[in-house]
Amino acid sequence: MAIRIAGIGTALPEKVVTNDDLAQHMDTSDTWIRERSGIGERRVGGTTSTMAIEAAQKALDAAGATPAEIGLVVLCTTTPDQTFPATSAAVCEALDLTCGAFDLNAVCAGFPYGFITAYGIMCAPGGPDKVLLIGSDAMSSIVDWTDRGTAILFGDGAGAVVMEKHEQGELLSFDLGVNGSLQSILYCDLGDTIKMEGREVFKRAVRAVTASVQAALDDAGISADEVDVVLPHQANIRIIDAMCKRIKIPMEKTYNVLEFTGNTSGASIPLAMARAQELGALEPGKIVLMTGFGAGMAWGTAVVRW
Ligand code: COA
Repeated sequence: MAIRIAGIGTALPEKVVTNDDLAQHMDTSDTWIRERSGIGERRVGGTTSTMAIEAAQKALDAAGATPAEIGLVVLCTTTPDQTFPATSAAVCEALDLTCGAFDLNAVCAGFPYGFITAYGIMCAPGGPDKVLLIGSDAMSSIVDWTDRGTAILFGDGAGAVVMEKHEQGELLSFDLGVNGSLQSILYCDLGDTIKMEGREVFKRAVRAVTASVQAALDDAGISADEVDVVLPHQANIRIIDAMCKRIKIPMEKTYNVLEFTGNTSGASIPLAMARAQELGALEPGKIVLMTGFGAGMAWGTAVVRW
């Protein structure tokens, strides 16, 4: 069975919040935020459902697919519009879909988890031919805008892909994991805001993402040299750089948007994917690595032949 990504769509709220904007009401600076994270600005506004719907519609258009062809909707989010129903139900309403649909919460590792899940369901007997996989997060709704340790990092956005059965495109390996003993270093209680031990998350994230990427590459029998495109979770450019140094993949192979979006959690990998596509990096046959990590601490990596 071969499955490819047939179309990519993105959605970002219009409102831009720059580092200088943040520095007006908290003790920080553009220079500090850029040096420590690589982030220059983020988008704020919109809800998880509105951004998801916009990105999904664009992905359908890019794939030349109609909503009626979609057999499953998977929405990766950690900021659902409500506790229930699942926000994917709002996507189905907007697109006039009645297929299976659910939300998936693996926080910043959501997109690889969603990709593997969707892939597995497509491969099951009678599995759908086309799936809408979306990452959408309104992180600004759970940020404490007075906490300089977290407010500088997060933003809102969505990215969606249409996955379809096709002779081109293949999952070569994956690695998923969670270390639940690290829940306390990054969490958000119901109705509350994000709490984070930044330095500890940084250290653990580098270790987790490096080990996950290495495990997935080993499992696929692919060397670091053979990787063409890396689509890393967009949390901090220094985490991406540290992972690349350890795996020995040049930074030039990574595609990043965090300078303009900040950390958009479940949306960050499809946003990076859209960037890679814009730059012409996603040619059929290329070896593409997606890797995410975040609260849990959860991680997920997928190695695909595009
Ligand atoms: N502006 C200016 N100074 C700040 C600041 C800010 N926004 N935030 C912290 N500082 C200060 C600290 O108080 C500290 O000062 P001190 O040395 O006088 O005590 C100094 O800067 C260094 O703080 P530290 O926390 O060690 O900085 P850091 O280099 O670890 O960078 C993060 C902080 C949050 C950017 C970084 O730890 C990080 O990105 N961690 C991972 C977070 C993440 O990715 N979370 C999501 C995972 S999905």
